[in-house]
Amino acid sequence: MRIILLGPPGAGKGTQAGRLVERLAVPHLSTGDMLRAAVQAGTDIGKKAADIMARGELVPDQLIVAVVVGRVSQADAQRGFVLDGFPRTIAQAQAFDQHLRGISIELDHVIELKVDEAVLLDRIMTRASEARLRGEAVRADDNKEALKIRLDTYNQQTAPLIEFYRSLKLLRSIDGLQPVDTVTKRLFEAIGSSASQVHVSAAGSA
Ligand code: AP5
Repeated sequence: MRIILLGPPGAGKGTQAGRLVERLAVPHLSTGDMLRAAVQAGTDIGKKAADIMARGELVPDQLIVAVVVGRVSQADAQRGFVLDGFPRTIAQAQAFDQHLRGISIELDHVIELKVDEAVLLDRIMTRASEARLRGEAVRADDNKEALKIRLDTYNQQTAPLIEFYRSLKLLRSIDGLQPVDTVTKRLFEAIGSSASQVHVSAAGSA
């Protein structure tokens, strides 16, 4: 199954993608994680991306499209994937669409996690303080100033993808303000997978 998760920073894309891939046995393709790994490793891509990410802006389309196209071509992605954080612009979506058509592959679902912006600062600041408590590095963009830019960027450049995928009849929207387990349940219902019952009972309630 090939799924894209859409939503603003802190909507729960990474959290839900982790649960989806566990049940669907496909890779979790998080472009944010890939870029942070590249920054950490000091690769050319990482050097280009570091400051842009810390400011909360988007890395260039061409760069990230090349990364994703390379990744979905790998053997473990042949059965499917859950994309988290890509595409983020209409140009990325069109380039990806063109790539998939070229290899005769179709997306199955695009899921939008809908959240009220008012909760996002709390979620991001909680994640930052939890990382600090664990003695882990805090994400360079998990602060109030960068979040404002991330949200503006989402509204201007990524939100138009909702209509883009609605017009392709791929979009489903889920209330991302519900408890994590409820969002997971709705997600599995949206993709029509019987895995929902198994997962929710195994995870307990939030
Ligand atoms: P990326 O890593 O994708 O960050 P993001 O989109 O800002 O999303 P987050 O990881 O902050 O949030 P999330 O929606 O995954 O929520 P999460 O599950 O973590 O991208 C980072 C940067 O990389 C970008 O700004 C850009 O610079 C660059 N980049 C990446 N992809 C790119 C692309 N395609 N093009 C160009 N640039 C790109 O949850 C957040 C917190 O909330 C957690 O603490 C979680 O426990 C909690 N939480 C989750 N769900 C719930 C819930 N239902 N109730 C209560 N709390 C919840």
